Amino acid sequence: MSINIGQAGQLYKEHFGFEPETGVRAPGRVNIIGEHTDYNHGFVMPMALERETIILARKRTDNTLNAFAATLGRSAETCLDNRARNPHESWLDYIVGVADELAKLGKPITGADIMITGDVPIGCGLSSSASLEMAALAMFETLGGFSLGGPEAAQLGQRVENRFLGLNSGIMDQFIARMGQAGHALFLDCRSLKFEHVPVSFPRATFVIANTCLARGLTSSKYNERVAECNEAVAVLAKTFQRKGTHLRDFTLHELAEAHTLMADNVYRRARHIISENERTRNACDAMRNGDAAALGELMNDSDRSLREDYEVTSPELDAMTRAARCLPGCYGARMTGAGFGGCTINLVEKDAAEEFGKRLLEEYFEQTGYKGAIITSAPAQGAGKLF
Ligand code: GLA
Repeated sequence: MSINIGQAGQLYKEHFGFEPETGVRAPGRVNIIGEHTDYNHGFVMPMALERETIILARKRTDNTLNAFAATLGRSAETCLDNRARNPHESWLDYIVGVADELAKLGKPITGADIMITGDVPIGCGLSSSASLEMAALAMFETLGGFSLGGPEAAQLGQRVENRFLGLNSGIMDQFIARMGQAGHALFLDCRSLKFEHVPVSFPRATFVIANTCLARGLTSSKYNERVAECNEAVAVLAKTFQRKGTHLRDFTLHELAEAHTLMADNVYRRARHIISENERTRNACDAMRNGDAAALGELMNDSDRSLREDYEVTSPELDAMTRAARCLPGCYGARMTGAGFGGCTINLVEKDAAEEFGKRLLEEYFEQTGYKGAIITSAPAQGAGKLF
């Protein structure tokens, strides 16, 4: 983490004229494998990053939320009794959305003077929004003197996205932001919410994250379109096999192939990605447990191909970056990470070659696209918590 808490506290004091009474944090995340599987009740394997959102706060006696987004240089005020979206300050929606879901649970939500800061790149597929939601939740918990269970907290964050913000996303981002464990990836069954913290300990390999530095517009409408396509595939499969399947998790590749002619080709390919990605993610978890970088790298490459050809959520720039990565010495595998359409890639690279890999990857990326990318390195970090 590159945020200096002392300096952040100083900034808070300059802005509000008094000291914060508490500070909380929640990390961004990178997904190692298991992409777009969460809302299909499948498997994912993300890890939390040493990039985080920090909120410093002091309770107020009224129900006003007086917020200063230091990173954006913006301020906004709202009454927490009146929880509506703010068309001018969309960053505030994540916090008000959390307050709204807490109110629905009957939890006490208190007005506060808060300052938000952080170093999760915004809109780059590293879950800056989930980290803000989980930091906001930690703040309301601390100020309100209550605490939700981990999975319950993640579900609340998902409801903020689904109901308040209108994105039909799954539970992965909030789950890892809350439940991440330092040094570990998290293997999660998004149906049962059973999880395992898997040590990230390859003897000779490390993850390198590369940012295309291009965030795509229309991501949420494209995202919801994919969710709808998956639901369409489920409807056809359930009808064909007279089963009560509710999600793609409930069907096999064999069944999908049998029903191929009964659905549009794009719907078939979306479903093929999901069902095969679930299989890859389970195998990737085994590879992680065994410290087998070669096997995991292969699975990451396969995942990327499936996301590019079947799920169609990559972009020319993401493709340029993963293609270039695979040609560099020491690269076990490369794939896009997160929702797609822009954002970051994750690469598994020989430790000794990692520095040179990052440098050459950015050169290649620039040569092929004309854009300047950025490298992010991070050990697996801890989930949300209290700083003081
Ligand atoms: C976004 C969503 C997640 C997940 C990923 C794709 O990050 O918030 O729920 O669906 O995209 O794997």
